[in-house]
Amino acid sequence: MDALLSRLFSSEEEELHTLDCMAYAMVLMAACTGVTLLFEDVPYGRYATRRYGFPVDARLAWFIQELPAFMLPLGLVVWTSCARTSMLPNQLLIAMYFCHYVQRSLIYPFLIRGGKPTPFASFALAIVFCTYNGFMQVRYLSHYADYPAGWVTRPSFIAGSVLWLLGWLVNLHSDHILRNLRQPGETGYKIPTGGLFEYVSGANFLGEIVEWVGFALAGGSAHSSAFALFTAVVLGSRAVAHHKWYLAKFEDYPPRRKALIPFLF
Ligand SMILES: NC(=O)c1ccc[n+]([C@@H]2O[C@H](COP(=O)([O-])OP(=O)(O)OC[C@H]3O[C@@H](n4cnc5c(N)ncnc54)[C@H](OP(=O)(O)O)[C@@H]3O)[C@@H](O)[C@H]2O)c1
Repeated sequence: MDALLSRLFSSEEEELHTLDCMAYAMVLMAACTGVTLLFEDVPYGRYATRRYGFPVDARLAWFIQELPAFMLPLGLVVWTSCARTSMLPNQLLIAMYFCHYVQRSLIYPFLIRGGKPTPFASFALAIVFCTYNGFMQVRYLSHYADYPAGWVTRPSFIAGSVLWLLGWLVNLHSDHILRNLRQPGETGYKIPTGGLFEYVSGANFLGEIVEWVGFALAGGSAHSSAFALFTAVVLGSRAVAHHKWYLAKFEDYPPRRKALIPFLF
């Protein structure tokens, strides 16, 4: 893999510059996506439509689309000369990334119950995003991120790591609640209850946003911040859309429940 990278980039300076540009491009992508999502819901799950291509089975789509976010970083860590993987902050941040994506790519898809098929365009875009982000996060952390001594004892790293863990647990727990709303073979929707769903319609999304904001705080880089921003834009919009959808579908939907932020929004 080193040989491939050295064919793509003539020097380490060029590769680092490219990684930085990728982070800034992701911020731009987040802005464009945010504007688009004012007019259209992300077209998968309950908003899936044939306008975005032929349907791909939900489990297959989630497995294949998320796999690059795990396999490419794994290849980078195992098959490239990583200058920074012996450093503790880098190890911890890479471990956080892998904890999430091992679950998301190898476990989550096979737990889905009655998920709607994903339109091909959403599936293809997710593959591109997972490849792009997986390379950007893990190449930066494994080879370039140079943290000063004592980084892991700084309040920002400790607070970020705690947020990452809390967010991940909320995301896992909330996805578990959603999954169990359906008996095997069912495909309809019910009102979610329990956990943070008592407060917000997008509890799983809130968990994932908090998770990547924590990761960004702990990592302190443009790369992790761009990912947190992109996640907040996509999942924030999805939480708002789900909230409106629940209010329209269920007359007895809990009136005090908010979309994304308990008691506020
Ligand atoms: N980091 C990122 O940028 C990003 C982007 C997208 C997703 N994600 C994560 O990926 C995971 C899944 O996302 P998603 O957008 O698919 O979440 P979702 O819309 O909440 O759906 C999750 C699963 O639960 C089912 N479900 C949802 N609400 C239900 C209800 N009221 N009754 C019964 N079943 C229900 C869905 O079935 P249907 O398919 O039939 O609707 C789907 O299988 C989440 O943890 C999310 O945070 C992350």
